[in-house]
Amino acid sequence: MSHPKNISLTRYLIELQRSDNLIPSELRLLLEVVARACKSISHAVNKGALGGVLGSAESENVQGEIQKKLDIIANEVLIEANEWGGHLAAMASEEMDDIYPVPNRYPQGEYLLLFDPLDGSSNIDVNVSIGTIFSVLKKPEGGALVSKEDFLQSGAQQVAAGYCVYGPQTTLVLTVGQGVVAFTLDREQGSFVLTQNQFKIPEDTQEFAINMSNMRHWDEPVKRYVDECLQGTEGPRGKNFNMRWIASMVADVHRILTRGGVFMYPWDRREPNKAGKLRLMYEANPMSWIIEQAGGASTNGRERILDLQPTQLHERVSVVLGSKNEVERITAYHRGA
Ligand code: AHG
Ligand code: MN
Ligand code: MN
Repeated sequence: MSHPKNISLTRYLIELQRSDNLIPSELRLLLEVVARACKSISHAVNKGALGGVLGSAESENVQGEIQKKLDIIANEVLIEANEWGGHLAAMASEEMDDIYPVPNRYPQGEYLLLFDPLDGSSNIDVNVSIGTIFSVLKKPEGGALVSKEDFLQSGAQQVAAGYCVYGPQTTLVLTVGQGVVAFTLDREQGSFVLTQNQFKIPEDTQEFAINMSNMRHWDEPVKRYVDECLQGTEGPRGKNFNMRWIASMVADVHRILTRGGVFMYPWDRREPNKAGKLRLMYEANPMSWIIEQAGGASTNGRERILDLQPTQLHERVSVVLGSKNEVERITAYHRGA
């Protein structure tokens, strides 16, 4: 599809629905509503201290993490925006213990929405890029009441996935399985405008992203990979590597989508019983699909993330994603170990 100038998200989605019936109208409505919620979160984020949105909420989520005020605000914005439209059966969020079925007073739809309402919480108070990540699944047929089990589908079953970065610009990135596109929020118009038509992640890179402070806890294959990068032109890779770590997955993934790179949050020995830090359903699955749709790859070090069968809503996973050849190398190091 070629795009004339100034295509709004609304127009893009309508054309997608019209041209090849690539998305049903219900899904179009859902994506519009999620985008509207992101716009509203973006405004709250922008107000910062003036809006009283910074700081801790002094509560804990189901994963034992202290919640920030914005974690809770963003979660509420997404729920309020999505519960009444008739397009959803239920929602699930990193910040809620259980699923949130659409209340009885509203019509029930056939989609399930999952989200990390505010990604990169540690960056909120220091004015560094943060974001929202979302994933859309279809509720399995049969069974009138929606249940937690309905959500336990592999990432390959997603029908839409995206994220919104609240950075120097507010950018919404989206896939419905037809490549990856991005829209920038035009604050004067109040709408998202198409600014990137098709991402293509370079297959090779000289840039990696990992929290190096955990080095002593890493597994051998991860140590080996990073060590080889650090040896630069004198090592087996024969080239120098650069490193970036923003500590907001949205911002790190957005950089990789834009100019390539590899991102890792691997399992480590700090809490050996946890598969990793990142959450399969709210972070790894949507990001993996976006990365694959842009020509990159994503594994847990051994298997393709999108093929993993989840057994719990808040399941964690080890993540290696980005430029294809690097991901394949890291995965090969793990398989060989
Ligand atoms: P969240 O703010 O939703 O809990 O996610 C934070 C995640 C992810 O965005 C980031 O890549 C990672 O945690 C950063 O972790 P470290 O602080 O351990 O580097
Ligand atoms: Mn997150
Ligand atoms: Mn979060």
